[in-house]
Amino acid sequence: MQGIEGKLRTLIDAEAIAARVKELGAQITAAHQGQDVVVICVLKGSILFCADLVRQIDLPLTIEFLGLRSYEDGTETSGVVQITSDLTKPIEGKDVIVVEDIVDTGLTMQYLLENLETRRPRSVKLASLLHKPARTRVPVTIDYLGFTVDDVFVIGYGLDYAQRYRNLPFIGVLSP
Ligand code: IMP
Repeated sequence: MQGIEGKLRTLIDAEAIAARVKELGAQITAAHQGQDVVVICVLKGSILFCADLVRQIDLPLTIEFLGLRSYEDGTETSGVVQITSDLTKPIEGKDVIVVEDIVDTGLTMQYLLENLETRRPRSVKLASLLHKPARTRVPVTIDYLGFTVDDVFVIGYGLDYAQRYRNLPFIGVLSP
C-alpha cells in the first residue's frame, strides 16, 4: 500500500478471513433459525466484515447501522462512548446480532450492549472479527468470534490507523 511500503506485515490474509467468515455465517444461520434477526453493523470498522458476513448468512434478516465514538484516554478507550448515528428502527422483540470489528478493552461493547438491552430486544448476540484478550478490562461475551490476536495494533479489512488503511483486503500490522 502506498505510503507504508516495507512497514506492513500480513497477519491474516484474505483467504483465511473469507474461510472464517463463511464458517461464522453457517454457525449463525444454524443458530438463528425462525428468528426475526436484525444485524447491527457498528460503523466504521465493521463495514467490510459485516458486508461479507451477511452474504454468508442464509436468513431473511434486516441490516441497521450504528455509529459509535469512543473517547480515548492516552492510548486506550476511556469507556466514555457516544452514539454518533443511531438505529433507524426499534429493536423491541427482535433477535439482534451486533457486528463489531475488534473487542480490545471491551469498554465500547460493554456500553453498547447495555444500551441495546434497554430497548427490550428478544435476544442480543455479538459477532466480532477480532479479539485482543491481553487488553481486556471488562469481560464481554463474544458469541461469534473470527480470530484472537496478540496485543498488536492491527489495520485493514475495515480497521484503521488515523482513519486510513480500512480498504486493505487483509489484516496487517504496521511496524515502526
Ligand atoms: P475497546 O473499547 O477498547 O474494546 O475498543 C474498541 C475499538 O477500538 C474498536 O472498535 C476499534 O475501533 C478500536 N481498536 C482497538 N484496537 C484496535 C486495533 O488494533 N486497530 C484498529 N482499531 C482498534
